[in-house]
Amino acid sequence: MNTAYVIVGASLAGAKAAETLREEGFAGPIVLIGEETERPYERPPLSKDYLLGKAERETIYVHPAGWYAEHDVDLRLATTVTSVDPAAHEVTLADGSRIGYAKLLLTTGSSPRRLPLPGADFDGVHYLRRVDDSDRIRDAFAAASRIAVIGAGWIGLETTAAARLAGVEVTVLEAAELPLLRVLGREVAEVFAGLHREHGVDLRFGVQVAEITGSDGRADGVRLADGSHIPAEAVIVGVGITPNSQLAEAAGLEVRNGIVTDAGLRSSDPDIYATGDVANAYHPLLGRHIRVEHWANALNQPQTAARAMLGQDVAYDLVPYFYTDQYDLGMEYAGYVEPGGYDQVVFRGDVQRREFIAFWLASGRVLAGMNVNVWDVNEAIQAVVRGGRAVDAARLADVDVPLEEFPG
Ligand SMILES: Cc1cc2nc3c(=O)[nH]c(=O)nc-3n(C[C@H](O)[C@H](O)[C@H](O)COP(=O)(O)OP(=O)(O)OC[C@H]3O[C@@H](n4cnc5c(N)ncnc54)[C@H](O)[C@@H]3O)c2cc1C
Ligand SMILES: NC(=O)c1ccc[n+]([C@@H]2O[C@H](COP(=O)([O-])OP(=O)(O)OC[C@H]3O[C@@H](n4cnc5c(N)ncnc54)[C@H](O)[C@@H]3O)[C@@H](O)[C@H]2O)c1
Repeated sequence: MNTAYVIVGASLAGAKAAETLREEGFAGPIVLIGEETERPYERPPLSKDYLLGKAERETIYVHPAGWYAEHDVDLRLATTVTSVDPAAHEVTLADGSRIGYAKLLLTTGSSPRRLPLPGADFDGVHYLRRVDDSDRIRDAFAAASRIAVIGAGWIGLETTAAARLAGVEVTVLEAAELPLLRVLGREVAEVFAGLHREHGVDLRFGVQVAEITGSDGRADGVRLADGSHIPAEAVIVGVGITPNSQLAEAAGLEVRNGIVTDAGLRSSDPDIYATGDVANAYHPLLGRHIRVEHWANALNQPQTAARAMLGQDVAYDLVPYFYTDQYDLGMEYAGYVEPGGYDQVVFRGDVQRREFIAFWLASGRVLAGMNVNVWDVNEAIQAVVRGGRAVDAARLADVDVPLEEFPG
C-alpha cells in the first residue's frame, strides 16, 4: 500500500506543506517534486530587493539547504511530473518512472501569460517568474539606458520602480485606462499612476501593443497599433498569469479558473489537494470560490491543506492579504473586491503625502482596506473586513476614531 504524501511543485506552497506535515507529526515518506533546479524559494524579492541587488541570493530560500534531509523530506529538483493517475494513486515523472501516493498535494502555481506578438521571441524580451529571470533583468538594467514595460500590473510596476532606482528610463504600456485598475479601482489606481509619474516614468494607458521590433534577433522597441514606436533596449512583459492546472485537468479533476477545492483545500478527488496560485478554493468568509495569486496565500493555505491531508477537520478562512513595495511606497491590502464590486472608497489620512488607509465599501460594508505607508494597522483592518457589518463612512475617514471601534 502507498504511504507517501507526494507534493508536486517545490516552491513556497510546496515547502510550507512539507514543513507542516512534519510539524504535525507525520512520520511517513514525504516526496516534494519540483521542475526548477533551485530548492524552494520566495518570489517577492525577485521584483524588489533581489532585483535591485540589495538582497543576497541566500535570503530568498524558504528553508536552509540542509532542512530537507534533516526533516527526511525527499526533495526531487529538476523533476517534472507529467501525469497523475487518481485511480492507481500514482504520479508519472518525465523519465517515465512512477511514484505512488496515499495523499497528493498539487502546488504547481502559475506561469506568465505569453504575448502572441511578432517579435515576442527576440532576445531582450523578458518575463519575470523565476530567479534566473530576475538575474537576467538585473543584467538588462545594467546594460540598458531605456526599457519598455508591457502591463502595469504588479510585475510591471514593481520592475518599473526597480528600473528607475537603477537609473533606467522606462515607458510603461498598459491596455487599461490606469495601472492595477481591475484590482484597485480608479480611485486608488490614480495614486499608483501619480507615484510613477513623479518618478519620471512615461505612462501610456489604453494602448494596444502590435509588435516588438528588433534586428538580428534582438529587441529594439515596441510598436503600438496606432503606428507609434517606442525605442527600448529591453522589454519586460507582465500581462498576467495562467494557473498550472493542466495535470489536474488531464486527471479528470474539477478545474475552473484553477483546481476547484473545498474550504479544506480538497479537490474533487478525495485524496488530492491543491493550494497556492493554482487553487480555486471555497472561502467560507466570502461564501464563494476564489483563486488568490499572492504570497500570503501560498504561505498559509498549505498549512491548512497539510492538516486536512492528515484527517483534521480544518478550513482556510484567512482574510486575503498582499503587499507591495515601490520606491518609498509600502502598502498592505486585506480583503477581496471583485472588479467593480464596490460603490464607495473611503480615504483616511493624507492621500497627497501617500500616508493613508483606503477602504472599499459596498452598501456600507467594508470589503477591503489598504494601508499605505501607515503601519501596524493591518490586523485592525482585517478585523473590520471580517466583521462584515455596515460602518459609518464619515467616522471611518476620521483618523481620530480608532479602527478598533468599528464593528468586528
Ligand atoms: C516576481 C514576483 C514578485 C511577487 N511579489 C509578490 C508580492 O510582493 N506580494 C505578494 O503577495 N505576492 C507576490 N508575488 C506572487 C507570489 O509569489 C505567488 O503568489 C506565489 O509564488 C505562489 O506560490 P505557489 O507555490 O502557489 O506557486 P509558484 O511559486 O508558481 O510555484 C509552483 C512551482 O511548481 C513547479 N511546477 C509546476 N508544474 C510542475 C510539474 N508538473 N512538475 C513539477 N513541478 C512543477 C513550478 O516550476 C514552480 O516552481 C510575486 C510573484 C512574482 C513572480
Ligand atoms: N505585490 C504583489 O502582490 C505581486 C508582485 C508581483 C507579482 N505578483 C503576482 O504575479 C503575477 C503576475 O503579475 P502581472 O503583473 O503579470 O499580472 P497582473 O494581473 O497583476 O497585471 C497584468 C496587467 O497587464 C495588463 N495587460 C494585459 N494584457 C495586456 C496587453 N496585451 N498589453 C498591455 N497590457 C496588458 C492588464 O490590464 C494588467 O494591468 C500575478 O499573479 C500577481 O499577483 C504579485
